[in-house]
Amino acid sequence: MTKVNDIVVIVGSLREDSINRKVANSLIEIAPPSLKLSIVEIGQLPLYNQDIDANPPAAWTSFRDRVKAADAVLFVTPEHNRSVPAAMKNALDVGSRPYGHSVWNGKPGAVVSASPGAIGGFGANHHLRQSLVFLNVPTMQQPEAYIGAADKLFDQNGKLTNEGTRTFLQNFMQSFSKWIAANAKSQQQE
Ligand code: FNR
Repeated sequence: MTKVNDIVVIVGSLREDSINRKVANSLIEIAPPSLKLSIVEIGQLPLYNQDIDANPPAAWTSFRDRVKAADAVLFVTPEHNRSVPAAMKNALDVGSRPYGHSVWNGKPGAVVSASPGAIGGFGANHHLRQSLVFLNVPTMQQPEAYIGAADKLFDQNGKLTNEGTRTFLQNFMQSFSKWIAANAKSQQQE
């Protein structure tokens, strides 16, 4: 029987009508049966501060526990000033500490960026990848996913109406499923 993998989805936007949240919801809808995805919220995480590592806020602990329990992580992010939004970076930092107890270590990952702009959040996508190298998240290289003109892809109910994008994202998730299977070993060694 094929294993069903538990995937946490981290959305880098906090706004209610976020395009990236719509992308994330579409990915959840079209994912193959081998992947069970759920969004883990990051807006409630206090800014990382090493001074409170010994007595962490409950929001940090529940976030760390949830990510730690997952088989893989999918990042869906906007681009802010050609980089990763502060909320997303904070979530990475919170999950990476205390030193030696990073919840990211060895967890297979993938990155999708979406923007109304033409280059689809390329800068954020690659700045995020830079951190993921250090955090030892084996991150899927291909296919890449830079979703440009992303404000034009959804109807007023947030449903993905662009068939080309739907097919692209379906293929992306199929590849991610294979990537997770191929990289599951790095987690078992933890
Ligand atoms: C942006 N936006 C933006 N877009 C882009 O393609 N490259 C960029 O560098 C930036 N920079 C940027 C900075 C800040 C502070 C904001 C608020 C916005 C525009 C951004 O892509 C747009 O607001 C998207 O709608 C954000 O994604 P969500 O929130 O809809 O998921």
